[in-house]
Amino acid sequence: MYTPSDDTFLLADCIRQYYGGRALEIGVGSGLLLNILEKNFAYVAGSDIDLTALQHCKQQKTTSANVLLVCCDAGSAFGIGKFDLIVSNPPYLPNDDNDTRDPAVHGGPTGIEITVHFINSAMPLLAGDGKMLIVVSSFTNSSALDKVIVENKMHKKILKKKRLFYETLSIIELSL
Ligand SMILES: C[S@@+](CC[C@H](N)C(=O)[O-])C[C@H]1O[C@@H](n2cnc3c(N)ncnc32)[C@H](O)[C@@H]1O
Repeated sequence: MYTPSDDTFLLADCIRQYYGGRALEIGVGSGLLLNILEKNFAYVAGSDIDLTALQHCKQQKTTSANVLLVCCDAGSAFGIGKFDLIVSNPPYLPNDDNDTRDPAVHGGPTGIEITVHFINSAMPLLAGDGKMLIVVSSFTNSSALDKVIVENKMHKKILKKKRLFYETLSIIELSL
């Protein structure tokens, strides 16, 4: 399971500014971000392909019983047009040289593939005035990211940036 890190905390700082009815996190990991969403939203759901992570969220009570946790790929279990806010800290490192992949950190052959998959999965789930917040690293292939944003006719706003010694992290807000 992914241990919360700089990327988690940067996204957490942004999530605290959002309030509303319904929120979804894709790739919940330890549940730290769900816990913040719960304070600001009436209904909160989360997904992860890692059942152990979801069990951790329940057993450690990082989330209350009101949060719907689903073991599924991205947003595949959820209905269209429902969420005011969707957040995600996707795995974004390129796969290892021998193309082995830890789903908590590796985002595909170039690193961007899972981010693009999460955005494509999330967009139909957003309410008309909904927003998606997503972590992007300077490791990310920005042209592939820009392409999916144009294809989905979305607007992009950079909310926060943090420079680390090995990469720069950004939180971007996507809206329809
Ligand atoms: C970088 S971790 C982020 C965890 C947590 N949200 C945080 O910020 O600390 C990425 C998470 O996405 C999950 N994940 C990877 N591929 C997924 C997929 N196709 N569908 C849903 N979750 C996925 C991983 O299991 C992992 O928990």
